[in-house]
Amino acid sequence: MGLKPATNPDVEAASIELTIDGQTVTAKDGVSLYDVISSTGKIIPAMCYHYTFDPFGSCGMCLVMQEGKKAPVRSCTAKATAGMVIRTEGDDLFQARKKAVEKHLSVHPLDCPVCDADGHCELQDMAFQHQVTTLANAKQKLIPEDTRSLVLDFNMNRCIACGECINICKDVLMIDALQFMKKGGFTQVVAKGDVPLACEFCGDCLAVCPVGAITNKFSKYLYKPWQLKKTTTTCNYCGDGCQLHLETKDNEVVRVTSPLSWKNKWGERSETAQGHGGICVRGRFGFQFIDSKARLTQPLVRKGAKLAESPWIETVETVVGRLADIKAKHGPNAVAGLVTARCSNEELYLFQKLMRAAIGTNQLDSSARYGHLNFVHAVRHALGVGRMTNDTADITKAKAILVVGSNVTETNPVFSVRVKEAIRVYKSQVIVVDSANTNLARLASHPTLVKPGTEGLFVKGLVKSVIEQDLIDTDVTGKHAPAFAALKQAVAGLSLDAVSSVTGVSKDRINEAASVFAEAPRSVIICGEGIVRRPDGYRHVLALIDLLWVTGKLGKPGCGINTVTEEANEQGAVDMGTSPEFLPGQAPFDDDEKRAKFSKAWSAPLPGKGAGTGLMDILKKCRSGEIKALYLIGENPLGTLPASAEVRAALAKLDLLIVQDPFMTETAQLAHIVLPACTFAEKDGTMTSQDGKVQRIRQTMDPAGESLPDWQILAAIGSGLGCASMEYESAQDIQREIMKVLPGYYNLGQPKKVTVNPDGYLANGYKADVAGRYRAETKAADGGKRFGLTMGQLLYHSGKLSTQASGLLLIASGNGQLHMNAQDMDRMGLKDGDRVRVSSAKGSAVLGARADLSVMPESCFYPEHFNNPPVKDLMSVEVDAATGVPYFKQTAVSVEKA
Ligand code: SF4
Ligand code: SF4
Ligand code: SF4
Ligand code: FES
Repeated sequence: MGLKPATNPDVEAASIELTIDGQTVTAKDGVSLYDVISSTGKIIPAMCYHYTFDPFGSCGMCLVMQEGKKAPVRSCTAKATAGMVIRTEGDDLFQARKKAVEKHLSVHPLDCPVCDADGHCELQDMAFQHQVTTLANAKQKLIPEDTRSLVLDFNMNRCIACGECINICKDVLMIDALQFMKKGGFTQVVAKGDVPLACEFCGDCLAVCPVGAITNKFSKYLYKPWQLKKTTTTCNYCGDGCQLHLETKDNEVVRVTSPLSWKNKWGERSETAQGHGGICVRGRFGFQFIDSKARLTQPLVRKGAKLAESPWIETVETVVGRLADIKAKHGPNAVAGLVTARCSNEELYLFQKLMRAAIGTNQLDSSARYGHLNFVHAVRHALGVGRMTNDTADITKAKAILVVGSNVTETNPVFSVRVKEAIRVYKSQVIVVDSANTNLARLASHPTLVKPGTEGLFVKGLVKSVIEQDLIDTDVTGKHAPAFAALKQAVAGLSLDAVSSVTGVSKDRINEAASVFAEAPRSVIICGEGIVRRPDGYRHVLALIDLLWVTGKLGKPGCGINTVTEEANEQGAVDMGTSPEFLPGQAPFDDDEKRAKFSKAWSAPLPGKGAGTGLMDILKKCRSGEIKALYLIGENPLGTLPASAEVRAALAKLDLLIVQDPFMTETAQLAHIVLPACTFAEKDGTMTSQDGKVQRIRQTMDPAGESLPDWQILAAIGSGLGCASMEYESAQDIQREIMKVLPGYYNLGQPKKVTVNPDGYLANGYKADVAGRYRAETKAADGGKRFGLTMGQLLYHSGKLSTQASGLLLIASGNGQLHMNAQDMDRMGLKDGDRVRVSSAKGSAVLGARADLSVMPESCFYPEHFNNPPVKDLMSVEVDAATGVPYFKQTAVSVEKA
């Protein structure tokens, strides 16, 4: 039933009865009458209404007759009350609505033939439905088109002033970039302040605009809607797993649209806790990598210094022959492989099967190693679950949300809309702990700026504080008294004064954050790169779990710990077993029963127990010459890791480097064999979102050139190597096999709620485990380098493909600049664009500087997707002893005018 949510999700509005077209209807008191009518299945016209935000009431289309009133009422803004008698049909209402359409059309240009919305326009539909044939008093507005924004054009002649664009941006996204302004005698939509629009460019305003007043610069004049083939698929950029529609014409992507649109405006408001159907800038405007001219279209084989084109069959034979040769001469452990987590589940499964069953090695890893595995290992160890513990509805309805080390509006923009909804609709208290003044911090009740790299220490401070302030749930801690005693002992050496001095947050604010979290009836944690990709990430996740436990939130409905992932299928990569520690289903590699099961299923022995090498050790073994052949699928370690990881030296030692990728990466340029792979738009399969939803990707178009889906290449190599069980006709064939070995995995968008079970962890081994977790940290020695340099994601770039998307490059180009605090720049006499020399213990780089409001004093930020100049080479690498996760995103630097 279409109802507005209560501000407090714990309080149900009273039920009332009213009559609609002679039928008695039960509804919640005070909700929009329009929603009550639509809940009966009647859809009455509405042009300014959208269920995701509060009614605006401007278009005059949703008219109904209410008994006792002479004139029709606007049902969207009218509130349902007990005893109302409503009529929704009749000639009087038809004529009144027709008048409203005529009014809109009389100031609307009839330029439908050249309008992007032609055939997909609510005003057209309404004119047709109400048989509006004469427009005797029509007049033109003749407003010049506003083309100042990078991605959207505003044609205000077509605007019907419905306010949907402004309302979605203000209410749902809390960005508030648009406004109405009286200009040239007309009410027009402009960017706030009437400047060129510079916002998050999500395009949700474009999606809800019922007419062609906002248009997409990239697809303008390229299509009529009926020429487009529309395929629903899953975005390949981040772990949010948004559904989107790829719209193609003649095998080219013309535009990307979202389930959010004016066509999809009737729904239940409480459903928005599951997602509002919108997508972000990367999903909507970052599609050009798919049919980029830079795509690899032919297999390439090195002939001397050059890579020369080679036919597929011959190339696969070469790959198979050389792998078999190396295996025969040096054993299976002379081979290793790395795979990207933007591959489908089926491909990830096949990759590990190829490595283990066809080659016989357990030297394999995926890009989940860059941080997500810290989270997975910690929650598995402590809670017995292998992913985040809440769904998006839990997050939206939490009363306290601790967002730590996660610039979530940039990294996972659509997930962040759930947190915004928690703030706006449910009035949640949100504590944002970050070294940058993030967008979410600006909306949060408790923005908490910490010094770079001290997010983990702040978490320890919270645990110390809840114990000191006696905010403990003694029922819960009493069940595991020895564990609680061990925790108290572990935190004894940590002083809040020391935490305050190192993090830069006052003791009072630490205590306040701790009490907000502890005292709320439902509290959730969201931790991101600032935790899982920083030194001690694994232990910091465990400290967050301590916080949940002692405050009584562990296992309590609506409470839990969550993370966000950069690549689309990092959770799938872990679930499909693409790391040495896990077989598919996160089964421990050394578990005899599971080993027997997979060995039987694949008709092949598995590599021996205890055998296995992950990312950083694979590179080490390449350098030492133990590994002779490396197979990279979508991974580009040379572009990802800093020089101190010595990737170049590792690759140089190899006898065989195979790179399978849609693009010629830095690493591919050094390869002996390059295999052209398809993008997600050219293949079928499934991906698992960070919250465990398994969703389809669907083939939209023919593969570019002779590129092939990764699964097809893997199957060909596996069968060539003599693995009889690697012959597949389709991605569905692989799915059928996964269904047999992992029954229930394919939940198709409806993940099971996970149930945490910390009792084993708290009862056994916790004491030893917690002992070193709270050691006091002092300010790291910085060798006199006073700036903290952090590398991280931008809203406009994520994963390894966004820098191949011309739309995203137009918004955020590759001219890497150092983001600095404006006061620091003033103090140093620097203006935007001035060159600075940034030096760390590992070297120095010269680059332009720019002021960034989100950067704290004595901090600086560099977008990690750009490597020109190679700022990442200023970083040193530290490897987590527990999880093998490499840390290389932060370092101390000096900055001086160049
Ligand atoms: S593109 Fe997104 S952020 Fe920008 S104005 Fe439209 S809705 Fe707002
Ligand atoms: S631009 Fe579109 S969505 Fe915005 S007010 Fe005008 S018609 Fe409505
Ligand atoms: S990048 Fe992430 S948030 Fe943006 S549309 Fe894709 S999945 Fe959604
Ligand atoms: S939908 Fe009610 S006035 Fe527009």
